[in-house]
Amino acid sequence: ANASSDALVLFGATGDLARRKLWPALYRLSLPFSEQCSPLIVAVGLPGLGREGFEKFVTSAVHDMCGPSDGVTVHGLLARTCYIEGDTARRDTMDEVARALRAADRSVYFLGVPPPLASGTIATMGAVRLPPGSVLVEKPFGNDLHSARALNESLLKVFSADSVLRMDHYLGKEAVENLLAFRFCNPFLAAAWDRNTISRVQITHCESRGVDTRGSLYEEIGAVRDVVQSHLLQLVGTVAMEAPADGTAEAFRERIAQALARVRPVEPGRLVRGQYAGYRAEAGVARDSAVETFAALRLDVDAERWRGVPFLLRSGKGMAATAIEVVVDFVPAERRLWFAGEDPGPARLRFRLGGHGGAVLTVNARRPGADPGPMPVDLAFDLEAAGPSWEAYTHLLADAIHGRTGRFVSMRTVEESWRIVAPALDVRDAPLPYARGSWGPEEAAGLPGADGWCAPL
Ligand code: BG6
Repeated sequence: ANASSDALVLFGATGDLARRKLWPALYRLSLPFSEQCSPLIVAVGLPGLGREGFEKFVTSAVHDMCGPSDGVTVHGLLARTCYIEGDTARRDTMDEVARALRAADRSVYFLGVPPPLASGTIATMGAVRLPPGSVLVEKPFGNDLHSARALNESLLKVFSADSVLRMDHYLGKEAVENLLAFRFCNPFLAAAWDRNTISRVQITHCESRGVDTRGSLYEEIGAVRDVVQSHLLQLVGTVAMEAPADGTAEAFRERIAQALARVRPVEPGRLVRGQYAGYRAEAGVARDSAVETFAALRLDVDAERWRGVPFLLRSGKGMAATAIEVVVDFVPAERRLWFAGEDPGPARLRFRLGGHGGAVLTVNARRPGADPGPMPVDLAFDLEAAGPSWEAYTHLLADAIHGRTGRFVSMRTVEESWRIVAPALDVRDAPLPYARGSWGPEEAAGLPGADGWCAPL
């Protein structure tokens, strides 16, 4: 753990991520009865808005994302925010940031600028006397293994290794931590967590929306870099990892990295890339773009625990529905009971990570009446119904400010993730077309074999 910070600098304070996630999270953290986290905020945006425009931007971001907001809290949030306009790669802008921070002992620096501006911003941070602290870096961390290492090196010139906080907001999702709670707080499940009891693992990350206003950014990334390398591989690590050696953040991060180290690189023959019809007409997208908006792949984990168990991943935009799930299928029962007519289907544990997060355990039960069954029944846990939850970015910003590192990605995990997806980044073929509102290209349907994909709930 690091020391707590009394300031937070947002580079890119008027960008899309800031509007959708950061300001709403800072608002939630400022509400009475929350963790009461109220650092000095230094917001750095591009020239143009002015203080008044900036205040409107924050107020409407909070209103749009959090529903009816508490005006007093928004006012308090703005009152402790110093707003600076400029170019973060320029010395004079960074000098202004330093002046705004003169009363701060320690700061968190959120590097929310587009990747091409990041290196200039890091360099000026190193050149100016700023309070010590930690730096938050959004995913994707680099563009491939080589650039990730270069980015890390440049950060280590300014920050200590444990102060580089690599973000993957999936690690801040309560529904992902619910998966860990199921696994490790229920010894009967922990004992069943291997190839003897589990036949396959499916991870679905489908979104009905397209790339919206992020066309030009998405063109540089595509589905593999945007979601597979980060969120989906974190989920693979969370499912596949061994139990942490102790309760520390380091032990958890170590286990995720170790699990990913056992994952074989994607085989191009087990990868289907797709692009939704109409993507090339989106703003900021090349008319002949070969960027994938969909990827489905099968991964194998070279660990005794997982030998022969396929990990099937798919992610896409412009899909039939928005569904984010991890589905664990158990092996079918070996024998029937004397009274049970049909073959029981396999039991299934489904973790829902989007919308109403939670879990559904489908087990076999006796069917009521003359037909003896068995029939599948769902035992469900609805995270939202259980109480108010925190959004991922709220957890992550609070953690960064309070010096907690457990929900951030280790450099080793970043390196393993880029190694795993590297063959997919080299594919030059045009992605297969699919209709908007479908489940992706037909070629992806066969990837899981005869059983097909499990339809999302
Ligand atoms: C982001 C990706 O990291 O995650 C987006 O850049 C994606 O493309 C988003 O839509 C999904 O996050 P969530 O929390 O809505 O599943």
